[in-house]
Amino acid sequence: MATDEDDLYRLLYNDVPAWTLCFLNDGVGKPLFLSKWQCEFVELEKRAKFIWTLCSRKVGKSTVLGVKSAHDVCGPDIERIAIFAPTHSQDFVYENVRKFLKSSPYLFENFIANDNADRIDAKNGSVINNRSVSQNTGGASVRGEFATKVLVDEIQSIEKSILNQIIQPIVADAYSDKTVYYIGTPNNMTNPDLEADWERHKARSKTNLDYAYFVVDCWRGIEEGCINAQYIRDQQEDLPRPDFQMEYEAKFPDTSQRFYTMQMLEDCVDTKYHFLDGPRPGYTYIMAVDWAKYLNNTQIVVGEVDLRNLHLSYCEWYMFNPKERKVDYEEQVDKVLELFWKFNVSWICPDSTSTQDAIIELLKNGTENHDGIPLPRFYGYDRDKNTDAQNLGYKATLQKNDEMHRNHRQQLVKGRISIPNQRPRERRFYERWVDEHHNLHVKNVSGSQHIRLVEGPGHDKDLAVTCAMLSLFLKERDKKPALMDIVGW
Ligand SMILES: Nc1ncnc2c1ncn2[C@@H]1O[C@H](COP(=O)(O)OP(=O)(O)OP(=O)(O)O)[C@@H](O)[C@H]1O
Ligand SMILES: [Mg+2]
Repeated sequence: MATDEDDLYRLLYNDVPAWTLCFLNDGVGKPLFLSKWQCEFVELEKRAKFIWTLCSRKVGKSTVLGVKSAHDVCGPDIERIAIFAPTHSQDFVYENVRKFLKSSPYLFENFIANDNADRIDAKNGSVINNRSVSQNTGGASVRGEFATKVLVDEIQSIEKSILNQIIQPIVADAYSDKTVYYIGTPNNMTNPDLEADWERHKARSKTNLDYAYFVVDCWRGIEEGCINAQYIRDQQEDLPRPDFQMEYEAKFPDTSQRFYTMQMLEDCVDTKYHFLDGPRPGYTYIMAVDWAKYLNNTQIVVGEVDLRNLHLSYCEWYMFNPKERKVDYEEQVDKVLELFWKFNVSWICPDSTSTQDAIIELLKNGTENHDGIPLPRFYGYDRDKNTDAQNLGYKATLQKNDEMHRNHRQQLVKGRISIPNQRPRERRFYERWVDEHHNLHVKNVSGSQHIRLVEGPGHDKDLAVTCAMLSLFLKERDKKPALMDIVGW
């Protein structure tokens, strides 16, 4: 039994759901009952320090983080709470805290000294800071922040670089005993490494009790009365299956259906390699081009090959995006030839399009600014048979498209391909490369044993296709006995 008001408060304070019920309301004046998962969630801090929760949309994420922060700022300890949101317009958690505190006269009078849009001060010196880490600011204002609690809402919308440069260092300093919450959906559009990070976090939780993970999908949400079942059924009908899984079932899109797995792609990263200004002695340079059809992009990729171990590193990249600017083929060919001669490329694989004849003619004959490409350096040119120019380039028919991707995947798995990811251009290339590869889904073609790779909604595949064409060089070399590995023309 409580002896006085302070004692009663202390008793309630130690039971977060009871405290919530007594002091917070749901915004329309009714006491706030935490749902079952929210009750479990607020208890997690008693046993773990780094808590990552994957949730369905609309299940009450921002609310529970708001409850937690309001609770912690009205307690006996001096806390410094940093609430992160991807942008200021998404600071739902912080706004929830303010709403909760303002609508509770008891809490506001007894604990709060000041509150404004960026910061809440408690009478005992505790602080809550509202932090946005948008791309524009680069999160600069937040660098060097010190906190005892770090709460990150919509973790999936925060870029990898910001996570590494801003949030991780706060987590890393060991001077203060702190708790970190990540909460969000398993959407890896913004941060392609999110799934791998999540898997690592889960693995760590098996051996290190400071790490905990928690999953709340829409089905649990419905069962516990957090979301409307009809709304979920409608969403299930409206959304493509992988999107529904991500947004509501708290599952990273089914990777078993992925032809290129995230792990396979991440394993290719070479943090020490960069794009090159020109050729280096002892290496062979190759190139692939996928010409834009309709509204996709033209992609030009140059690779540096070490013939001693058949290792390929991407060393230059250029793309034309017709949505930004319409570029005629002559200008595109000109760029291809520029890069071709800059690297003195010995093997080029253009895709063969319906406009193939005209483009191949241009590539062979050259432009105003650059010489054309000698026939023997084209993919598809067979010196023995002296193949006709019509067959130059790669025509990815059903079977050949299948072969091309299987070869590319094999080369990736063999560890023969490296991708740089450190500097800005390299980073853009890497992010697009991972995104496009990973989002190719396998579709079986009825009446054939071949597969078709289809891009996910909102994703391109032109860069992945170009890189798969580039890998054909490795396949060609594989077939020949080692002695013939010397390229000459
Ligand atoms: N325990 C609760 N009791 C009553 N209402 C709640 C509770 N938890 C959440 N809500 C209400 O449910 C709605 C969704 O909650 P919230 O915004 O926290 O969900 P979310 O998972 O963050 O959603 P989003 O996916 O949009 O970010 C809000 O209107 C919120 O007030
Ligand atoms: Mg939310």
